[in-house]
Amino acid sequence: MEKILVLDFGGQYNQLIARRVRDHRVYAEILPYTVPLEEIRKRRYKGIIFTGGPNSVFDMESPHYTREILDMGVPVLGICYGCQLISWMAGGEVKTAPVSEYGKIELTAKPSPIFENVPEKSIVWMSHTDYISAPPEGYEIIATTPDCPCAAMQNTKKDIYAVQFHPEVTHSEYGDKVLYNFLYNVCDCKGEWVMDSFIDDTVIKLREQIGDKNVILGLSGGVDSSVAAALLSKAVGKQLTCVFVDQGLMRKDEGDFVEKTFTTMFDMNFVRVNCAEHFINALRGVTDPEEKRRIIGTEFFNVFWDEIRKQSDKGYFAQGTIYPDCIESGKGDADVIKTHHNRVKTPEDVEFLGIIEPLADLFKDEVRRVGERLGIPRELVWRQPFPGPGLGVRIIGEITAEKLDLLREADAVLRDEMSKNGYENNLAQFFCVLPDVKTVGVMGDHRTYDNLVAIRAVTTDDFMTADWARIPYDILAKVSNRITNECAGINRVVYDITSKPPGTVEWE
Ligand code: XMP
Repeated sequence: MEKILVLDFGGQYNQLIARRVRDHRVYAEILPYTVPLEEIRKRRYKGIIFTGGPNSVFDMESPHYTREILDMGVPVLGICYGCQLISWMAGGEVKTAPVSEYGKIELTAKPSPIFENVPEKSIVWMSHTDYISAPPEGYEIIATTPDCPCAAMQNTKKDIYAVQFHPEVTHSEYGDKVLYNFLYNVCDCKGEWVMDSFIDDTVIKLREQIGDKNVILGLSGGVDSSVAAALLSKAVGKQLTCVFVDQGLMRKDEGDFVEKTFTTMFDMNFVRVNCAEHFINALRGVTDPEEKRRIIGTEFFNVFWDEIRKQSDKGYFAQGTIYPDCIESGKGDADVIKTHHNRVKTPEDVEFLGIIEPLADLFKDEVRRVGERLGIPRELVWRQPFPGPGLGVRIIGEITAEKLDLLREADAVLRDEMSKNGYENNLAQFFCVLPDVKTVGVMGDHRTYDNLVAIRAVTTDDFMTADWARIPYDILAKVSNRITNECAGINRVVYDITSKPPGTVEWE
């Protein structure tokens, strides 16, 4: 299969670059800049893209790469830091720019294989403090901006191209065209990466690998494990057992919907473990958010592994791990703000024949496309992100069965109204939170002293940053009216108008 390497020098958009390449039907994988050249040679890439990064190439502590990479005969595209790195490696001059460029800038482009169908003047996204003051010998300048004398350069003999701007972000008007041109005009790609062939190939591989053995999968009802389940069901049917732990922290009717979907639409053994009470007991009196997460995570796996131990013929253990969970970033460890977990460790006393991760090469949007093609209902495939600890981190303070019921009802009203108004799939995430707050209200002639509910809704591309969503007042009014009327025990509704940062999406 034709493949592009995205060589990661610590840029914040490295995953985006790979996704954009894949959108053009070419498989792309990300490797850190520490990968040896031999490994790169072995993998026979059609092209290599150097990502951006926060450093200066003339700082010797910065990520560099051996210059032989430019002499392998494999086309290279450098982006931002990657562009400066090519210049530096090939003997050009990189300096701190007299004027840093940040944001949308007008680019003037000359004819080049990477600028085919790109107008002479267009807007690009720039974010740099260093620049190429003199390109290396053999390289010609193919674009400029008012403050950047070399905004792009090329060496057509060696098929090496470099752009100071970020073609991968949508703010660069023709950025996608530049990437397309690199793939098809320079690397000579054919566009073989399509989801139908992924499904067919994976099913064959899974059948070969699993043979007549069994497979166990932990199904959470989230997108990744649901798609993994559907794919495995297509491959091996009843040899698959899905274990669905319902900890009582899901949204209204969600557990029943997951059960119905997988028992009626897919061929498999489905085991549902209902353990809401167990979780309420384990969480009694606990108010600290990280402690709640720890208990929910630990208890979840205690229940899950106890159920697995009961299975006599275990076979393989499958997981819905996706590509972003596997990428080793050039940035080193990002700060852990909240504890999320993706890959599951198996306890020592539970033995499997091996681990199967059928989605480990896919980005989330690709997983969704596979899910749609496998016939999983839209509600599951396009499900908004839902935190592992579920409603447990949307109830501030102690979690009780009553509070869970109250939150579920309010959240169901919000979802219903958002769905009626076409927001179900058009907003990154929205949900209700039940803070540990009671306020005074009035109903008829009576004083009330009831719960406050908060609505949280955000727009975001990547969940690293987010903006609070500007939901029309009319919809908010309807939701507030319905919640206070339909959910006994709630007398006040507020709307969270905090962006991330400084707030996070979830309240805990
Ligand atoms: P935060 O609150 O960190 O949320 O801004 C960013 C995104 O991550 C989701 N989230 C989680 N997902 N386990 C998960 O699988 C978790 O513990 C967890 N905490 C937050 C959150 O819903 C949002 O989409």
